[in-house]
Amino acid sequence: MISSSKIRSVDFYRKIPRDLTEASLSGAGLSILAALAMVFLFGMELNNYLAVSTSTSVIVDNSSDGDFLRIDFNISFPALSCEFASVDVSDVLGTNRLNITKTIRKFSIDKHLRPTGAEFHSGPVPHFIKHEDEVDEQTVEGSVPLNGVSFDRLSHEYPILVVNFYAPWCYWSTRLKPSWEKAAKIIKERYDPETDGRILMAKVDCTEEVDLCRRHHIQGYPSIRIFRKGSDVREDHGHHEHESYYGDRDTESLVKMMEGLVAPIPVENQRLALEDKSNATKRPAPLTGGCRVEGYVRVKKVPGNLIVSAHSGAHSFDASQMNMSHVINHLSFGKTISPRVLTDVKRLIPYLGRSHDRLNGRSFINHRDLDANVTIEHYLQVVKTEVVTRRSSRAHTLIEEYEYTSHSSLSQSIYIPVVKFHFELSPMQVLITENSKSFSHFLTNVCAIIGGVFTAEGNQRTKYVQKN
Ligand SMILES: *[C@@H]1O[C@H](CO)[C@@H](O)[C@H](O)[C@H]1NC(C)=O
Ligand SMILES: *[C@@H]1O[C@H](CO)[C@@H](O)[C@H](O)[C@H]1NC(C)=O
Ligand SMILES: *[C@@H]1O[C@H](CO)[C@@H](O)[C@H](O)[C@H]1NC(C)=O
Ligand SMILES: *[C@@H]1O[C@H](CO)[C@@H](O)[C@H](O)[C@H]1NC(C)=O
Ligand SMILES: *[C@@H]1O[C@H](CO)[C@@H](O)[C@H](O)[C@H]1NC(C)=O
Ligand SMILES: *[C@@H]1O[C@H](CO)[C@@H](O)[C@H](O)[C@H]1NC(C)=O
Repeated sequence: MISSSKIRSVDFYRKIPRDLTEASLSGAGLSILAALAMVFLFGMELNNYLAVSTSTSVIVDNSSDGDFLRIDFNISFPALSCEFASVDVSDVLGTNRLNITKTIRKFSIDKHLRPTGAEFHSGPVPHFIKHEDEVDEQTVEGSVPLNGVSFDRLSHEYPILVVNFYAPWCYWSTRLKPSWEKAAKIIKERYDPETDGRILMAKVDCTEEVDLCRRHHIQGYPSIRIFRKGSDVREDHGHHEHESYYGDRDTESLVKMMEGLVAPIPVENQRLALEDKSNATKRPAPLTGGCRVEGYVRVKKVPGNLIVSAHSGAHSFDASQMNMSHVINHLSFGKTISPRVLTDVKRLIPYLGRSHDRLNGRSFINHRDLDANVTIEHYLQVVKTEVVTRRSSRAHTLIEEYEYTSHSSLSQSIYIPVVKFHFELSPMQVLITENSKSFSHFLTNVCAIIGGVFTAEGNQRTKYVQKN
């Protein structure tokens, strides 16, 4: 039989009879101090538990082969016509996509970068423009050469003035020449400028009449423009309203086109020429010489180029006159992140997103005339940053973000000047992980604080009692 007194003797903390304990003033002070310490330590621990901590590591980018990278851009070119602006993408794996149109929108802009109208659409243009096959030995001279003064006079005199803006050195101008002259001769015979006077075919040598060509924003040769007396007299702040012809360039097609132009105009009654919208080979000529190109392209995750240049299958360009100055409104890689998510993540990692759109607002303007045929190249180093959270038991990606650094350079081009964005994706990516916190660990810490402070106080008290 074990007596209850024996069991009682096992008690760790023996009870002291109440009349032996005594509350002392100094003891109370010690207790208050201990309580304060406890509260303070508890607060620190709670703060630590609630705080978000992240760890950053650099790992090999393991995006799979089929992944594409999206490049969003919005770039204004004050001196490149939408008529010819073209976006090409190429990469080291041999992908070569020229003249991307599906995901790109173009807007004509003036030199202050303001859009001058609705979206610019390059209509359906035949891929192969017909030219005269056999070239006559003796070239007929049918069209009237114009200069700045005679252009102004004749464009007010004839209801329809069709002008071939050409450059003698240009391949396509040379191919157009025989059929143009022949067509002009035929038209002259059918509609005598003296007696009929409804139409005149003329030509302007842009190497001589530089100002006249610049005034009409001629950037590619040959450009065939149709001036109508009615709409050109109504000059609007120096803007001429006229059309550009993009059709076949053999004699027969040209003559047919001219006859189509003349048909709606009655003889000897030079009323305002009506615009006929019937033929798709004619489209309004750009009012201004600039273009804003915006949209996106998808590229493989390998080094490559995004190139904006003047491009045409049936025009030549004068490299020394091209001006590839541009203002970048926006250029970014990867999916656009909604501002709400971004501010959410920025709370976690304040430096994130700083170089997401690094070229934003930068302008690259060529001022010096000496710097003709300059290609502008941007070298972009792209790094992927992934933020992973482990809040809920499973890890999941909060955000996938691409940042880049850029270096720009000017170089003399061998062919025509272009704007080139050379991008290279780093093989390493930054992984930011939000560390998880365990609640049981927090509880343990809290218990340790309470126990520890109690013990410390007890020790102090024992010493104090022994001293007295
Ligand atoms: C990339 O690596 C991480 C861990 O390093 C892994 O969790 C993830 O599934 C990998 N992704 C792919 C697409 O292989
Ligand atoms: C492109 O930039 C221009 C100028 O900043 C702006 O007016 C236009 O809305 C932008 N386009 C898009 C699609 O964001
Ligand atoms: C680009 O392609 C579209 C449609 O294929 C065509 O209409 C347009 O003329 C082309 N532009 C250039 C500059 O080649
Ligand atoms: C447009 O003009 C071309 C030649 O100038 C002609 O071949 C074609 O039939 C015309 N199309 C229409 C719809 O009138
Ligand atoms: C190119 O165009 C820009 C913008 O219109 C202009 O400021 C610059 O002087 C031009 N440069 C040359 C060499 O013509
Ligand atoms: C521009 O390029 C052409 C060749 O395309 C070259 O003949 C000419 O000298 C270049 N002009 C300048 C100013 O470098």
